[in-house]
Amino acid sequence: MNILGIETSCDETAAAVVKNGKEIISNTIVSSLKEHSKYGGVIPEIASRKHYECINLVTEKALSDAKMSLKDIDAIAVTKEPGLIGSLLVGNSFAKSLSYANKIRLIEVNHIEAHMYGSFLYNQKETFIKNNYPKLPAIGLVASGGHTNLYLIKDFTNLKLIGKTLDDAVGESFDKVARILELGYPGGPIIDKLAASENKSDIKFTSAKLSGTFNFSFSGIKTAVLYHAKNNKNSKDFSLAKTAFSFQESVIDDIIKKSFNACIKFKINSLVIGGGVAANSRLRFKLNNEAKNLKINVFIPKMSLCTDNAAMIAGLGYHKSRKD
Ligand code: KG4
Ligand code: ZN
Repeated sequence: MNILGIETSCDETAAAVVKNGKEIISNTIVSSLKEHSKYGGVIPEIASRKHYECINLVTEKALSDAKMSLKDIDAIAVTKEPGLIGSLLVGNSFAKSLSYANKIRLIEVNHIEAHMYGSFLYNQKETFIKNNYPKLPAIGLVASGGHTNLYLIKDFTNLKLIGKTLDDAVGESFDKVARILELGYPGGPIIDKLAASENKSDIKFTSAKLSGTFNFSFSGIKTAVLYHAKNNKNSKDFSLAKTAFSFQESVIDDIIKKSFNACIKFKINSLVIGGGVAANSRLRFKLNNEAKNLKINVFIPKMSLCTDNAAMIAGLGYHKSRKD
């Protein structure tokens, strides 16, 4: 079964063809990120105009890369929510028109749930992934710019939300801290790179513990970084890299701890991660390292499947199509 996925929830216009919910046949993406960076965040109007400009071409490219036409497509999966309304409207109107005009079934997919699907996808040549395919049930962590959610995944049509952020999302906290430190946008990759020059720091930032729950809170740590920078920026000892490292260490330790605690509580030994923050090099390193001691299998997708893409939409769409 070939599913054409369409994703336009934020600043990426993406289309992909995925076979049987597993194999990526093509995966195309155009990003308007550069056009937003000078404003320090995504400007919804710019994002929707870019989707409007590119959606046709991106979809045609995904089909031609897959050496397919719409006749070979069994279903169209589109991101229904959450996201920027103007951006979602472009993708949904386009997908609905394609579906209606060509009598192809339409499947609506939730973007956050799809972020956990990256580890369940491979290209034909990626035999390692085929041979080490994640097993369900699993605990799923979505760490993105808009969400920090923990799920118990029995199967992909049976997801239970067990924890979420009560304020800022973890990616949002990277972006806000980068703005405080005047590092640029998006903050995640910049802080990741800057922090990589350090491996320890005396500065201690702590995120709220919220003991006894799997919930998160990141707005306090952002404020702590703000005051640290304000009070120390004129001191000769002030280090941007150490500040970035300490902030990053604290938030990633928190999400790692809660994810592993969820695995232990629910007696589950698979953890799947998704969302833009899953691209963080320190998070990837620490997760893999600590998982060994706990005998938990951690699945982190390659970078291009951590951030927004349409293959994850087509992949999850496959499971939804089988349920309805
Ligand atoms: O999943 P995503 O592409 O879009 C949403 O659905 O939100 O995530 C974007 C978020 C941004 O906040 C960005 O700063 C963060 O992911 N991000 C990172 C890294 N790469 C992207 N955060 C930490 N480290 C990174 N390497
Ligand atoms: Zn996303």
